[in-house]
Amino acid sequence: MALALPASIAGMFKRIYCVHRWAGVAAVAGLLAACVCPQLGHAASPVLTIRFSHVVATDTPKGLAVQRFQQLVRERSEGTMAVVIYPRGQLYGDTDEVQALQLGAVEMIAPSLSKFGRMGVPEFEIFDLPFLFRSTGDVAKITKGSVGRQLLRKLERVQLLGLGYLDNGFKQMSANKPLLRPSDFVGLRMRVQSSHVIAAQMLALGAQPVVLPFSDTQRALAQQVVDGTENPPSNFWTQGMNTVQSHFSLTQHGYIGYAVVTNPHFWTALSVSQRQLVKGALADALAYGNAIAQEENDKSLQALRDAGTTQIHTLSDDNRAALRQAVQPAYDDLEQRIGSVWLDQVYKALRKH
Ligand code: LMR
Repeated sequence: MALALPASIAGMFKRIYCVHRWAGVAAVAGLLAACVCPQLGHAASPVLTIRFSHVVATDTPKGLAVQRFQQLVRERSEGTMAVVIYPRGQLYGDTDEVQALQLGAVEMIAPSLSKFGRMGVPEFEIFDLPFLFRSTGDVAKITKGSVGRQLLRKLERVQLLGLGYLDNGFKQMSANKPLLRPSDFVGLRMRVQSSHVIAAQMLALGAQPVVLPFSDTQRALAQQVVDGTENPPSNFWTQGMNTVQSHFSLTQHGYIGYAVVTNPHFWTALSVSQRQLVKGALADALAYGNAIAQEENDKSLQALRDAGTTQIHTLSDDNRAALRQAVQPAYDDLEQRIGSVWLDQVYKALRKH
């Protein structure tokens, strides 16, 4: 079981939520103004605006892929279609972005695959299984194959339409001490995403998982509400977590990637040509994002090394083997919840090639 939040932190989130709400009102007002401009005789405005909300920084694999999508839509529609991006959770965060999409307050979001379990599709937590994937090439065997397609189709059950997958990379552990062996985790409060598999992984290591929204994680670490967390270098660096975590251990234990989702009502209301254009631009933007993801993570790791704020540790093969062994209960947890058929398909796909 993950911990509930202390009242002081819950209050902090409530205040943050209010600020987000006002930002939302301002953004909507801006969009309404853009819509009425043509009637007032101003210069041509886009006839279609796609509001894309996400929680990470602009200079991350996801941030850059969404910017590429914006550029491609603008160019290919000759300015008649626009993508307005709300990065860093400035409009909606982890807890309310799905609802915002379902209510039509935004048209696209790209949550991490770890967050779809909480939305009612626990099979997505396959991607959270520790030490399952050796590389993003392994992950592509799932996302580009039958399991990946079945998972996107399952989203219809929760009124979401899945449009494609995007890589970030592999997660590393951070805290104010090195995290190399299972015993290093005992008693630590570790921030996690809202995934039962990730919570089971932390419990198996003797740590206490604490679910927190991404946008609040750096502050929670600074205030020592939590002791550590897991992130790819791109998220760790661009959130400034290096200023509040003195050790970054290259455990490379888990994958983090995203699914871009839209509101099915929005999607079916598009004309055939608009839909084709958006689909094509998104496919190209996701391919671009996947191509630069590793490089962006490498750049962030180098920036972290150069900053000198945080010691970076490499694991020995023995360390890695001990961690791998310790987190096996996370596999049992998922199998009990989704059944062995899914996992068998995943193992089969990974053995191929
Ligand atoms: C997290 O919450 O740690 C990540 O899902 C953030 C992200 O979107 O990469």
